[in-house]
Amino acid sequence: MTRSFHIAPSIRFADCTRLGEEIRQVVLAGADLIHFDVMDNDYVPNLSFGPSVCAAMRRICHVPIDVHLMVRRVDRAVTQFARAGADSITFHPAASAEPLRTCALIREHGCTVGIALDPSEPVSVLEGLLDHVDRVLILSVNPGCGGQAFIAQSLARLRGARTRIARCAREVDLQIEGGITLENIGEAAAAGALTFVAGSAIFGHGDYAGRIAGMRRAIHAAITGPLPMQRSEAALA
Ligand code: DX5
Repeated sequence: MTRSFHIAPSIRFADCTRLGEEIRQVVLAGADLIHFDVMDNDYVPNLSFGPSVCAAMRRICHVPIDVHLMVRRVDRAVTQFARAGADSITFHPAASAEPLRTCALIREHGCTVGIALDPSEPVSVLEGLLDHVDRVLILSVNPGCGGQAFIAQSLARLRGARTRIARCAREVDLQIEGGITLENIGEAAAAGALTFVAGSAIFGHGDYAGRIAGMRRAIHAAITGPLPMQRSEAALA
């Protein structure tokens, strides 16, 4: 079975003075989806974007908008972001009074369902939830702040999540977020991740196409051996 890998730039690191253009550019550069981190300054120690920004993005973004709710009032936010155009909504089960009810609410709004685990939460939290979700997000940094270093133990957590997903009778995407770089993305792919959220490793570096292509090459090298170099690269070798 060939696995397909997805690159999901986190817009928290885009130049907010020109957010629309940043989204256009990173999609043109090959982003598979846009990751939209929502922080309420309560569940996590930071405040980010609201549903009106998501709705504005929806008007110009032609790839899926992958909303990640790091908020205390999960169910209220689900409805707000679904109405604002989210394609997928991922929440932290620890923030929901009834995680299965929240999964059902997300689906009732026509969005795909994701659950996110902080680095401190055991992967066993997935038991009883996997049959109700389309995606598992493993956080490889403590939620709420960007530009943190990748927590190395996250690779074992990815493998643990992959093992549990393999026992599932349904397709469940395995996402990793936090400190993903060109240097560690291959290891994350080898540990079972299929979707890679990256903020500071993409935005702020100018050449979005080069960064995303480099990530895909690193994934491919880790999974199947080095990609044949482009003719131009071979000529320079
Ligand atoms: C997690 C943070 C960041 C962000 C990704 O709560 O919000 O991890 O999503 O940014 P980088 O890739 O810079 O960690």
